[in-house]
Amino acid sequence: MKFYLDTANMEEIKRITRLGLVDGVTTNPTIIAKENRDFEETIKEICSIVDGPVSAEVIGLAVDEMVEEARNIATWAPNVVVKIPMTEDGLEAVNILSKEGIKTNVTLIFSVAQGLMAAKAGATYVSPFVGRVDDIGEDGIELIQNLKTTLANYGFETEIITASVRTISHLEKAAKAGADIATIPGSLLPKLWKHPLTDNGIKQFLEDWEKVPKKAESLS
Ligand code: G3P
Repeated sequence: MKFYLDTANMEEIKRITRLGLVDGVTTNPTIIAKENRDFEETIKEICSIVDGPVSAEVIGLAVDEMVEEARNIATWAPNVVVKIPMTEDGLEAVNILSKEGIKTNVTLIFSVAQGLMAAKAGATYVSPFVGRVDDIGEDGIELIQNLKTTLANYGFETEIITASVRTISHLEKAAKAGADIATIPGSLLPKLWKHPLTDNGIKQFLEDWEKVPKKAESLS
C-alpha cells in the first residue's frame, strides 16, 4: 500500500519523509489554508521534497475554469497531480485533461457510481472519503471494498486513494480491502507506529538490563 500524507505542513512532510514512508502528498483548499502561505509556492516546495505525486486542487467549478487552472498547475512540477471535484463539469475537465496527459485526482467521491464515472472519464486517481461516509451513518470501508472490486472487474488503471482517513482502523481496513493508496493526516501518522505494549516492553527491557552484571562488575 502506498502512503500519501494529507497535509501541506513542511515539518510533517520532512519528518515522515525521513522514515521513507511518503509515496506522495495530497492537499485541498482547507489543508492549504492552514499553512497561511502562497498556494503555488507551497505546492512547488512539496513537489521538490517528495518523490511522488502531489495533488493540488482547482478552485473553479466551470469546466473552462478547471481546465485553465489545471493546465497552469501542471506546469509547476513534473510530479504535480490536479485535483478535480466530482461534478459533471469536473468529469468533462478530467476527460479533456487526461487526453492532454495531465494527471488528475477526482475528489469528494461518496459512492461506487461516482468512482466508476471518474475512472471512465480518465481519472488517474479517485478519492473516496471514508470518514465523511461514516459521518452520515454509512460504511466508508465498504465503499472502498466495493469500488476496488468494481474497478478491478473492468481492468481500470485508476488508483484508489482512501481519503478522509481518521483512525488506525480506517487505514488497516482500507489496506485489507486492497486500496492502492491511503492519504493520512500528519497528526494520525505517528500513531500508526505507536503501541503501548511496545513502550512497556522497551521500559521493561531497560529495567532488566540494569540487572545484568557488567564486565567490570562481574570480574570483581
Ligand atoms: O483527504 C480528505 C481529507 O482532507 C478530508 O478529511 O477528516 O475533513 O473528512 P476530513
